[in-house]
Amino acid sequence: MKREDIDRILGELEALKCKTQKEVEEARVRFLGKKGELTALFDEFRTIDKAQKAEFGKALNELKQKAQARIEELKATLTDTGASDGPKADLSMPGDPFELGSRHPVSIVRQEIVDIFRKFGYDVAEGPEIEDDYHVFEALNFPANHPARDMQDTFFVSAGHLNPLLLRTHTSSVQVRTMEKMDVPIRVICPGRVFRNEAISARAHCIFHQVEGLYIDEGVTFADLKQAILLFAREMFGPDTQIRMRPSYFPFTEPSAEVDVSCNICHGKGCNICKGTGWLEILGCGMVDPNVLEASGIDSKRYSGFAFGMGLERIAMLKWRVNDLRHYFENDMRFLHEFATAPEV
Ligand code: PHE
Repeated sequence: MKREDIDRILGELEALKCKTQKEVEEARVRFLGKKGELTALFDEFRTIDKAQKAEFGKALNELKQKAQARIEELKATLTDTGASDGPKADLSMPGDPFELGSRHPVSIVRQEIVDIFRKFGYDVAEGPEIEDDYHVFEALNFPANHPARDMQDTFFVSAGHLNPLLLRTHTSSVQVRTMEKMDVPIRVICPGRVFRNEAISARAHCIFHQVEGLYIDEGVTFADLKQAILLFAREMFGPDTQIRMRPSYFPFTEPSAEVDVSCNICHGKGCNICKGTGWLEILGCGMVDPNVLEASGIDSKRYSGFAFGMGLERIAMLKWRVNDLRHYFENDMRFLHEFATAPEV
């Protein structure tokens, strides 16, 4: 037995490098296994004479401890479990890019409208998409079989009884629920998804989004309505925006009007977006019909109010000159990504 053998093994243990758990195991077998180098030295130790035993006994035990410690140390520093021999991760490679989504144009417009009306002191109210006939029609002064119901082709969920369930055709239903629940004065806007049985085309869809608003207090007049809409239009489309009102009809408002804003693309000169008129239609509105107030338990002699409603897809179309409503629902990433940084026109 020679001192150098022990020193050589010590040196090898210190220099030992392993990349995988498999290599650590191979090293363990090489040094500490039944046929390993240390085992061979211990076998040899048994045959040497006493004087030599005194010299090598301690050194051999230390060597064994060091070998075991070194193997344990290598095992612990490797992260792979030894389960796979496949290619190892290369930490210097660039990572998989994580694609960040962007907000949907309809969501952007809804948030903008909500923010504007919040500044005017309106609260946001929400309600169910599956509604009953009462809240969508009856309480809004659409009597049974009234032809005005045909203005809004309805998807029925259940039919045949007095108050069938249906997909709401406008969020005016939320205004009814608000009037039932809240005390006057009321100032709410109701954003939400609505459904109408219409053929899908560039200008119409069976699903779209609205923001409707309701303001009820003592002494509310048409002049208040006009001013609220004018302020809104200027916040939304720019400070030079003009509005005009055209007489219209809704069962739940009287008088009723359709509101146009001055075309912010051609500034009144006439272009293909405003079809040469210089005006773009953006919403419907009117003074809440006394029948509607009374149906929800509000004294129509004491209180009056106005309501308005607009389609978000339409406003987004005007804002970004989107020419086909169907783009909003097709989830084409090339379209959706345009709005991450879309400039206003
Ligand atoms: N509810 C109407 C619609 O969906 C819009 C509207 C709301 C009109 C309030 C007048 C007053 O078409």
